Amino acid sequence: MPTKSPAKSAATRGSQPMLHQKGMQIQEFGTVRQLPVGLSHDARMYSCERLNQCLADSQILYSLYKKHHWLMRGPTFYQLHLLLDKHAGEQLELIDTIAERVQTLGGVAIGDPRHVAEITVIPRPPDGVEEVPAMISRLLEAHEAILIAAHDAAKRADEMGDDGTNDLLVSDVIRTGELQAWFLAEHLVDTPLVES
Ligand SMILES: [Fe+2]
Repeated sequence: MPTKSPAKSAATRGSQPMLHQKGMQIQEFGTVRQLPVGLSHDARMYSCERLNQCLADSQILYSLYKKHHWLMRGPTFYQLHLLLDKHAGEQLELIDTIAERVQTLGGVAIGDPRHVAEITVIPRPPDGVEEVPAMISRLLEAHEAILIAAHDAAKRADEMGDDGTNDLLVSDVIRTGELQAWFLAEHLVDTPLVES
């Protein structure tokens, strides 16, 4: 029988924070805990994998929006500067929703940007400044990659009985992404400003 260490008195403990603590991982990435949500282990594993991919790509899309919000140029600077920041804010809300869905299913949400960079399928932009139409095209391509994957993941989640994940992908990821893509794409229409 292991001997129990004597309980520390308040005076012994004092109020010094116990700093620089290290510990082992208590759940590995890519695993799911059993939670009483009425879904099979396989369904929760599958949804977590698809949601984490969507989460990684959405985190990159959020970062692209902020990058282009900062680097915007030219006569449409003000409206695009504001629009891209609005979209970034909406993506940030979405990121939190997706991550918490992974946790709800017993999984581990991808969080560290270096891990995100390893997993994302969104191509890395140049570190410098692209021309404005190229910035917008890049955002649209990122949106489409996320939307194509979200449609497929939503269908598969539905087939596996995971209605909550299906709903999140359709109602949040797809609806938000489609609307944002529309607002962006209109900025690539070459329409006359003064004379038709
Ligand atoms: Fe800003």
